Parts: sequence; structure tokens; C-alpha cells
Amino acid sequence: MLRTRFTEEFGIEHPIVQGGMMWVGRAELVAAVANAGGLGFITALTQPTPDALREEIERTRQLTDKPFGVNVTILPSINPPPYAEYVQTIIESGVKIVETAGSNPEPFLPYYKEAGIKVLHKCTSVRHALKAQKIGVDGVSIDGFECAGHPGEDDIPGLILIPAAARVLDIPMIASGGIADARGLVAALALGADGVNMGTRFLCTAESAIDQKVKEQIVANSELDTQLIFRTLRNTARVADNAISRKVVEIEKAGGTFEDVRELVAGARGRRVFEEGDLDAGIWSAGLAQGLIHDIPTCAELIGRMVAEAEELISARLASILA
Ligand SMILES: Cc1cc2nc3c(=O)[nH]c(=O)nc-3n(C[C@H](O)[C@H](O)[C@H](O)COP(=O)(O)O)c2cc1C
Repeated sequence: MLRTRFTEEFGIEHPIVQGGMMWVGRAELVAAVANAGGLGFITALTQPTPDALREEIERTRQLTDKPFGVNVTILPSINPPPYAEYVQTIIESGVKIVETAGSNPEPFLPYYKEAGIKVLHKCTSVRHALKAQKIGVDGVSIDGFECAGHPGEDDIPGLILIPAAARVLDIPMIASGGIADARGLVAALALGADGVNMGTRFLCTAESAIDQKVKEQIVANSELDTQLIFRTLRNTARVADNAISRKVVEIEKAGGTFEDVRELVAGARGRRVFEEGDLDAGIWSAGLAQGLIHDIPTCAELIGRMVAEAEELISARLASILA
């Protein structure tokens, strides 16, 4: 057993988290992570309406009696979804852990607190982690530059970001970005984290409800197979290398604006990649961790072997180095 402040304070068996993933964080995956002793997050905005989210939470409850959470990602948007209604649904559904991401969670924090919900805020810098701690979140997940999705604009990899954050934070901290196996988990713990968050690794598991061709592409890909899009807009996203992400980078380099890439990066196109396995239909998030992924395990196999190998690494390999 690996016991940390995170496992103790959040009531989770293993210090392993499956972060919110648009189009992917659904009942089957989240319940599989929970049943394996990790913490999985349903992605609120993958559900088209708050009522659909209520049903997804119910569906998850039918598949597991272990704790799980809901991710609420608030990003700037031309037609913002009804965030307050999604939050109200989460509270009414009795979910006890929320992962916030994308913007400052302060406006909704009093409501979460009043409902006894623990808030794990995901951010990409020490200053944002400190701010989150100051406003009263219960823990932070910190994404290094390696991560899939939005790494921020500072470009600081986990090897620096995690110990820099550990030095100044008092609340539990989860290391995120570029972690896919027991070595990453033990390294994160050594750097001062209380657990790890993984996206790309869980994207490529048996229970992740995406087309098999995408999982096979992740296995085939290496750490070189990502692109950073939206750099010029200061809204960087790390996505899988494909014809579309290369085209977006090309247009940006030539001085293009968001309008010039809007159609290429549409969410509906990315969704088609996951649902139809058409790998060049749109952009899809994937991180450098692709270079560490060589199989498509069940979540129970993945979490089970990560914990067992981490124990072995700590008690045998690292202990044997001691003179
Ligand atoms: C397909 C995919 C979709 C994602 N969507 C979201 C999202 O909607 N909200 C969010 O907070 N993070 C999202 N992420 C980021 C993950 O929760 C996690 O922070 C990140 O993947 C960690 O880096 P890793 O992929 O190297 O493990 C997504 C990641 C992937 C792979």
C-alpha cells in the first residue's frame, strides 16, 4: 500500500487519479478506475446538458460503490455552457469530489464547501497553485509542460515544477503530465507530490470508450508525436501529431488567426477521431507520455501493476542503492 496525504484526506485507496478528459471521462472508465482503487473523474461538459450529467453520475454509481468525482473545466468560450447548472447538478447528485480546471474556481467554491465537496484544482504553475491554496481548495493537481491538453505558457516540465510547488504548498499536491507507469509515480513521490494524475495513459485503456484505432496509434506513437497548437494565441494545447495539428501549426506560423483555424479545430471533428477512429478527422489531446505507453491494459491491470511495481521500486531497487 502507498499511503500519502492525498489517499488519507481524499479517502482513496491508491494515489492515482484519472483527470477529466473531454469526450472520454464517462461512466465505464471512471467506475473502472474507482473499482481499481484510483480516483476517476467524469467530465461534466462531455454531457450535453446538466440532466445528462445527472444520469451519467447515476450510471457510474451503478457500476461502482467506490468514491469518484466530476471534472468541471471552465474555459473562455463564445457561447459558454450553463456552468452554474452543471455545478448545481453535481451538488444535488451527492458527488463528494470535484476537479476544477481552466480558470479560477473561486466563484463556485462556497457552494462546493457548503455541500462538503472536496475540490482538487488543476493548474499549470506554482503561482496559480498558491492562489488556489489561498482561496481554500483542498488539493491541487499540477500539470507540467509534458501534459496532454493545456500546459499553460510557462513551459516548465514536471522535474522542476513539482518540487518547486512542493516547497511552497501546504495542501496535498498531485503531479500531472508525462506520467504513465510506476517509475513516474515513484519519481513524483520523490519530487514531493502526494500522488499522480494521468490522462494519456488512461485514454489508452480497455475501458476508455474511444475507437480501438486511436488506442493502437497511441501505442505506436513515441514521445515525439505531439504538436503544440495555439501557441500564437497564448492558449497552448498539446495534441497528437496528425495532418490537422500540423496544418494548424503551419497556419499559425504563417501569421494566421483563430478564424483561419476555427473549422479545423472544431470540437465535433475531434470527437469524430475518438468515435469513428478517423485519426485525421480533427485534433485530439495526447501527451509526451505516448512514448511510455506500449499496451492497452484494463484499469485494474494498470493501477495494480503501477502500485506493485512502485512498491518494488521503493523497497528493493531504491533501497538497494543505500550504501
Ligand atoms: C483526450 C484528453 C482530453 C482532456 N480533456 C480535459 C478536460 O476536458 N479538462 C481538463 O481539465 N483536462 C483535460 N485533459 C487533461 C488531463 O486531465 C490531464 O491533466 C493530462 O492529460 C495529464 O497529462 P498526461 O496526458 O501526460 O497524463 C485531457 C487529456 C486528454 C488526453
